[in-house]
Amino acid sequence: MSYGPAPESANAANAFLEAHGRTFQLFIGGNWQPPASETYFESINPSTKQPLAKIAEGNAEDVDAAVAAAREVLPAWAGLGGHQRARYLYAIARQIQKHARLFSVLESMDNGKPIRETRDIDIPLVARHFYHHAGWAQLMDTELSAYKEIGVIGQIIPWNFPLLMLAWKIAPALAMGNTVVLKPAEYTSLTALLFAEICQNIGLPKGVLNVVTGAGATGAALVKHPNVQKIAFTGSTEVGRIIRRAIAGSGKKLSLELGGKSPFIVFEDADLDSVVEGVVDAIWFNQGQVCCAGSRLLVEESVSEVLYAKLKARMEQLIVGNPLDKCVDIGAIVDKVQVKTIDELVQKGIHEGYAAWQPTAICPSEGYYYPPTLFTNVSPAATIAQEEIFGPVLVAMPFRSHKEAVALANNTRYGLAASVWTEDINLALSIAPQIKAGSVWVNCTNMFDAASGFGGYRESGFGREGGREGLFEYIQPRMEATLSDKPFLPKIAAESKTAASKNGLPLPDIDRTAKMYIGGKQARPDGGYSMVIRSRSGTYIGEVAEGNRKDLRNAVEAAHANSAWSNMTGHARAQVLYYIAENLAVRRAEFARRLAQMGGQTMEDALLEVDTAIERIYTYAAYADKYDGRVHSTVLNHVTLAMPEAIGVLAIICPDESPLLGFVSTVIPAIAMGNSVVVVPSETAPLSATDFYQILDTSDVPGGTVNIVTGKKEELAPELARHDNVDGIWYFGTKEGSQKVEYLSSDNMKRSWVNYGKYRNWSDTVQGAGEIFLRHATQIKNIWIPYGV
Ligand code: NAI
Ligand code: MG
Repeated sequence: MSYGPAPESANAANAFLEAHGRTFQLFIGGNWQPPASETYFESINPSTKQPLAKIAEGNAEDVDAAVAAAREVLPAWAGLGGHQRARYLYAIARQIQKHARLFSVLESMDNGKPIRETRDIDIPLVARHFYHHAGWAQLMDTELSAYKEIGVIGQIIPWNFPLLMLAWKIAPALAMGNTVVLKPAEYTSLTALLFAEICQNIGLPKGVLNVVTGAGATGAALVKHPNVQKIAFTGSTEVGRIIRRAIAGSGKKLSLELGGKSPFIVFEDADLDSVVEGVVDAIWFNQGQVCCAGSRLLVEESVSEVLYAKLKARMEQLIVGNPLDKCVDIGAIVDKVQVKTIDELVQKGIHEGYAAWQPTAICPSEGYYYPPTLFTNVSPAATIAQEEIFGPVLVAMPFRSHKEAVALANNTRYGLAASVWTEDINLALSIAPQIKAGSVWVNCTNMFDAASGFGGYRESGFGREGGREGLFEYIQPRMEATLSDKPFLPKIAAESKTAASKNGLPLPDIDRTAKMYIGGKQARPDGGYSMVIRSRSGTYIGEVAEGNRKDLRNAVEAAHANSAWSNMTGHARAQVLYYIAENLAVRRAEFARRLAQMGGQTMEDALLEVDTAIERIYTYAAYADKYDGRVHSTVLNHVTLAMPEAIGVLAIICPDESPLLGFVSTVIPAIAMGNSVVVVPSETAPLSATDFYQILDTSDVPGGTVNIVTGKKEELAPELARHDNVDGIWYFGTKEGSQKVEYLSSDNMKRSWVNYGKYRNWSDTVQGAGEIFLRHATQIKNIWIPYGV
């Protein structure tokens, strides 16, 4: 049968635009307000190149007004309680459903995506997110009682899923009691403005949601604003990096959903016809302008040619054209700038010697279109295999073994998603854990649901959107408000400078320089330098090695070489942790003497710190096999396993105070979750840590699990923060040090957790222990598995 157009009417959308005189103001404090600059920019329909409307260009002054409005209403909104907020979110969800057609058409016109997708995917998911989070608002008091809202949230979203990205950000933020200033993408502001109108209509309290339209400069003003407590961003890795650096050290929280180059892995026993449909959804959904697009097709060599042939046949059937046509598969690219970027990368691929294949049917001559494109047998190092193209371009390459498939899949700086196709459940579930990505789809692709978290590993960013795990981006532990500006130091024993000797106890050796501990062995410092360690009252105690960059490199390498630890079960790791506790208990008095020697406290106080450390080890031994994931209830015929995975190699810069307890309270939860760590212990009192490796040595901890590099923390921390093979960093030190760590961590987008110069009481179980440490030691992978009939 030949194809006949079936266009959806644009009347309602045009009526909406006309009602606003095709000119949109800023939505601030519940009112429509002209921009301070009095300037407007045009939003076009990329399928016709015709302007749709004029949009206000917000500047720093407008952002300031919006933040002020959000701040003013914050106490009232947070104080409203979960149930009242649930009612508002529910009302928004209902309104979206009632206006679903208008939203779908408007989105298609503004963005160029096919109406089939906006109607069947984007808009229903938007409603789903508001319903789901109405539920979380309702349950917040009972499920998350140790947490509270963060405050005013600045949200910056891209143009590829304009309303959906809005929903992913606004629904959890409002549910958890925050207020929002949203900056839509400059190409696609219209549905956000329609959304604002809906919020106005349902009587959402003024200022809870503010929409400030504009381009990058408007976003940058929002990022910089001192009264914004958190930035949530989706967009390019480049801008994500700019934002990370801009707010480093400010104490603002940050979540980033960035780019990807996700693998779509096909094993020889896969159902190739399903695979072909999967590929269509993976890379031609939304013209390939999808951060988690399956843009790298990895296919087992034995079936590669068959699959390429099937794929080409299918590509011939794809209809490229008017986005409002219900039969169209591929619509227009959002803007001519993006068409140019896509084409430049395709030309680069051709220039590098790869053949591009495109179906014979041509794109409409009017509008910004790009044909579906396939590159086969591309080398993994090719530009087109490494760079995010963000268009309808698929890059395919063969693999010969399962091992090679995993290696190719992970051969990217990104880690957003992956698809695994095979009829062999054992194979699928052995590949899934080996892939470094936030979502892994088994025999499916591009699956999303409000109940499941979505977000990246590595340079694809951090934080999750959706699911219970996503809520933590919009709440903070109530405990955080109780942190101190000064470190908690033990009371110096009244009658003596060296309480330990006064007590008649022999002091530990002072004649040797404590070594570092790398790869399970004592290590001398590369530079050959050592540092004198003195008690708090100034008495010489001994010396420790002064580590440098080379020592850190060795330590990171040793941490990477150790796979034994991460491959152990939680139970097996728990056994080792209990063993550590047992060995520490045996040497309790010796460790207490060391603490008293360095800190000058009474033996009684020192013994208490050791006992608390032992208890803390028990805590994380207990958690090792209990901090587990969830099975999310998402879409029909699937279950979604949300599994916390170790971050990988974690750098830990310990607090100077509480030299034993601060070390144990950070290192033990990190390794309990399966990470290998490179630790810089207390700079002023490192000897408890250097004594501790004897305990590690006798407790069956695999070499390379804990690596200890002593030295000057403000020199070592930046090295670790910028190190490319460190996956995450925790820093407990000064405000300035925190700024540096956050700034430098943006090089490879490693996860960072810093204290901004705020101090914990490490002996307190609320401040010094708990799930928050485990959350920072893990990242959640969501694995979608077919399940049910
Ligand atoms: P972009 O990252 O520049 O834009 C995303 C959002 O950030 C927009 O709202 C923009 O106005 C805002 N923005 C830009 N500069 C900013 C700054 N300095 N401070 C604060 N906000 C700022 O993405 P763009 O230029 O639209 O697309 C370029 C490439 O980025 C695409 O080709 C694609 O590779 C990638 N991209 C990835 C997305 C994803 O979902 N991961 C979404 C959009 C683009
Ligand atoms: Mg537009």
